[in-house]
Amino acid sequence: MIDLLSDTVTRPTLAMREAMATAEVGDDCFGEDPTVRRLEERVAELLGKERALFFPSGIMANQCGVMAQTRSGDEVLLEARAHLLHYEEGSLAVHGGLLVRTVPAAHGLLDGDELRAALRPPSPFHPPTTLLALENSHLDSGGRVMTPERTAELAGLARGSGLAVHLDGARLWNAAAALEVPPARLAESVDTVMTCLSKGLGAPVGSMLAGPAPVLERAWRIRRRLGGQMRQAGMLAAAGLHALEHHLPRLPEDHRRARMLGERLAGLPGVSVVPPETNILMLDVAETGRRVPELLAQLRERGVRMGPFGGSRIRAVLHHQVTDGDLEVAVSAFARILGREGLTSSAY
Ligand SMILES: Cc1ncc(COP(=O)(O)O)c(C=O)c1O
Repeated sequence: MIDLLSDTVTRPTLAMREAMATAEVGDDCFGEDPTVRRLEERVAELLGKERALFFPSGIMANQCGVMAQTRSGDEVLLEARAHLLHYEEGSLAVHGGLLVRTVPAAHGLLDGDELRAALRPPSPFHPPTTLLALENSHLDSGGRVMTPERTAELAGLARGSGLAVHLDGARLWNAAAALEVPPARLAESVDTVMTCLSKGLGAPVGSMLAGPAPVLERAWRIRRRLGGQMRQAGMLAAAGLHALEHHLPRLPEDHRRARMLGERLAGLPGVSVVPPETNILMLDVAETGRRVPELLAQLRERGVRMGPFGGSRIRAVLHHQVTDGDLEVAVSAFARILGREGLTSSAY
């Protein structure tokens, strides 16, 4: 199966498994796992933050980052299509007691005017707005990236109104690679940043929350309250360290393949493609006159898996276990299903 469902479908490589098997470990609850410590220090350094903490998942790290900077009854601002709102089981409301107010953005990336319009002066009649959460790259828009300048502008506006800023950077590594900037540049103007090791980097488990030490101290307690405390987690942290060393530098390859796949599929009748900025390719197949479940089932019969993404959208995500040859197979499967055998290229 050529699996383009997500960049989370990767299997640990042999070298990664060896690093995991030989990791030095201890009880992380007592701060005694040297491999977890090394990973946390490495990520804090890469993200330019005082401290980082290892988490089992991005959802838990996002929650802890937001909850460490808010109180029950506060309001947080999120872009209207944010992962934190739509794909995290209502955790901000359920665990954080938080109200979410959404700010619509034209293409998933907020701009200064959109945020300015949403910020309101403190009032005894409104819940206190205490945090803005951003997302980079932005999943729902097809992995679009936010520049350091725009991030700084939004963070500056939020801070000016007394809000803390959390960045959901599940794929921050991809955004940094696409913009050709160090990851720390994308995190420098926010307070806390979450980023995943288990997506394009190919680790089996693990996300990180980075930020100022006092905030991370609170996040440590919330992680424990949620049951996210791990013991000999160094075996998992070793996979993360391996991924940062060996897989991080090759993310531009995934971006090149996403562009290549997009260019080829855009040549098929009725398929419209959002030009990818990172490793996520969004297709709209409304004009093919075919239904998404039917198209996806036919692709699967030909050994290619992509995912539905609402309405007439299909998503394909590139990762390090997909080759150029796999993409040729995926394109010809798609072409055959749409009755256009032999079609090879187009611009968007
Ligand atoms: C933008 C974004 N944020 C957060 C998450 C949550 O990460 P996890 O699946 O590790 O909980 C995801 C997962 O796909 C994501 O895409």
